[in-house]
Amino acid sequence: MARLLPTLSTHFIFFLFTISIASALADEESFVRAADRKLLGLNKKEKLSHFKLYWHDIVGGRNPTAVPVVMPSKNSSTAFGMISVIDDPLTMGPEMSSKMVGRAQGFYSATSQQEVGLLMAMNFAFMEGKYNGSTITILGRNTVFSKVREMPVIGGSGLFRFARGYVQAKTHRFDPATGDAVVEYNCYVMHY
Ligand SMILES: *[C@@H]1O[C@H](CO)[C@@H](O)[C@H](O)[C@H]1NC(C)=O
Ligand SMILES: *[C@@H]1O[C@H](CO)[C@@H](O)[C@H](O)[C@H]1NC(C)=O
Repeated sequence: MARLLPTLSTHFIFFLFTISIASALADEESFVRAADRKLLGLNKKEKLSHFKLYWHDIVGGRNPTAVPVVMPSKNSSTAFGMISVIDDPLTMGPEMSSKMVGRAQGFYSATSQQEVGLLMAMNFAFMEGKYNGSTITILGRNTVFSKVREMPVIGGSGLFRFARGYVQAKTHRFDPATGDAVVEYNCYVMHY
């Protein structure tokens, strides 16, 4: 009997040890769980939407919508190094007076030394109808003197949760004196 005891207690300690490891593992995994597609409204078919918008980048004048926050490298002909923060109106038509449906908020940065090429990082924040409050996020390369520039839509919020797609940007009007530009954006977005 006296010789059995130590064996039993060793088993018992091993048993406790196993239980505590198992519960520690369960605790660690409890922050991840399978989610219910239905609860998140994802049991519908994915939609493809096309938005045509005009993006107004106002650089000059007393009320600019694009503000440089980092100046370009001094002797660069492509403004390399420049960063501008934007809050650009998005309208239905090419004129500023046409209906505003949202704003493009973010920044662009001159990231090419060979040509004028921008890195665009912006959210299209919609303000119209059922889209009010929803956003899509665009991150891509914009060589502004190319006829059509394509950039990915990398995500979204609200009605655009799980969004993916692309935009095509075409300069509608550019004023070399002020730097102001109106760009047509055709956005193709898959979402639920
Ligand atoms: C820019 O600076 C570099 C180094 O100082 C120089 O070699 C180059 O010629 C400059 N480029 C221009 C366009 O002035
Ligand atoms: C959009 O939503 C905001 C905040 O909820 C509200 O103040 C605004 O009036 C709405 N705009 C439109 C056009 O519905």
